[in-house]
This record gives sequence, C-alpha cells and structure tokens, in this order.
Amino acid sequence: MMEKTFVMIKPDAVKRRLIGEIIQRFEKRGLQIVAMKMVDVDKELAKKHYAEHKDKPFFKDLIKYITSSPVVVLVLKGKNCISVVRKMVGATDPKEAESGTIRGDFALEIGRNIIHASDSPESAEREIKLFFKNSEIFEYNMPDADIIY
Ligand code: PPS
Repeated sequence: MMEKTFVMIKPDAVKRRLIGEIIQRFEKRGLQIVAMKMVDVDKELAKKHYAEHKDKPFFKDLIKYITSSPVVVLVLKGKNCISVVRKMVGATDPKEAESGTIRGDFALEIGRNIIHASDSPESAEREIKLFFKNSEIFEYNMPDADIIY
C-alpha cells in the first residue's frame, strides 16, 4: 500500500553531520522524499508533537532536547513506508537497536536517539499536518517508478 510517513532528524544528528547519511539510506531503499525542511521546533510545537507522552517522567528532557537546536523534517512516500521506515530506524532505545538500523549504527542513549519516525498511519497523518502545509508536500513522478525495489 502506498503510504506517507513523517521523519524528524533530531538535533544531535544534525550537529553530528549525519543528515546526509540518514537521508541517503531512505533514498537508496527506494523511498521518495516529498517534503523536507530545517526547522527550529519551539516549545509549543514540541509539546503538540509529543502530546501523548506529556505525563511521562522523561517529557521535560524530551522537550528540552528537541527544542535545543534545529531539526530536519521530512515526508517520505513509498509502499508500506510507515513500517519500513520504523524498521530502518530501529528500536527506540539505541542499546536495543540492531546493527544495520539507523539508531543501532549511530546512537547509544535513548535521550539522544537521533531520529523520530511515525509509528502508525494515524500518527503519520497528524505529524505531517503539524509540521507541513499542503503546499510544502510535492507530487512528482520518479523516472524509475516502474522498477520494483
Ligand atoms: S513509552 O513510554 O514507551 O510510550 O515511550 P517511548 O515510545 O519509549 O518513547 C516516547 C518518545 O520519548 C522519547 N524518550 C526519551 N527522550 C528523552 N529522554 C528519555 N529518557 C526518553 N525516553 C523516551 C523516545 O525517543 C520517543 O520519541 P521518538 O521521537 O518517537 O523517538
């Protein structure tokens, strides 16, 4: 099924010059970038994005981390891309993440786990709407669209 998902390359990954490495993995997998920008997430937006975790003990630290410096946000499109991207990202706690996943290769601590990806169609829709206007999401054909990856 063709899907769209939301990805955030978090402040630590931006500062560690990992933007290109991470995006390249998604492109090489065959996913299409249909929206992308660098943003400073303010407290209000961060709290909306992570609203479901507002009562968790780590919430304050999470908001501080996400608002600490710019992030890169993307919308990726592809067949079953919500679950595909989650698998590529790896377990939330990097110490549990398999090698070969983004977190398994580049992160060590849950509080600095370098990337966020939507976990369901509902959260993908909500998160895309939170970060992007419709006019920032593009429709275009890939020259290799007939290739089955
Ligand atoms: S829970 O309790 O299972 O629902 O939470 P979890 O799915 O593990 O994590 C929800 C998001 O909070 C981030 N997180 C943390 N950030 C900072 N510090 C600590 N200790 C911490 N623990 C969890 C976690 O990375 C999830 O954010 P995303 O952006 O989805 O990875």
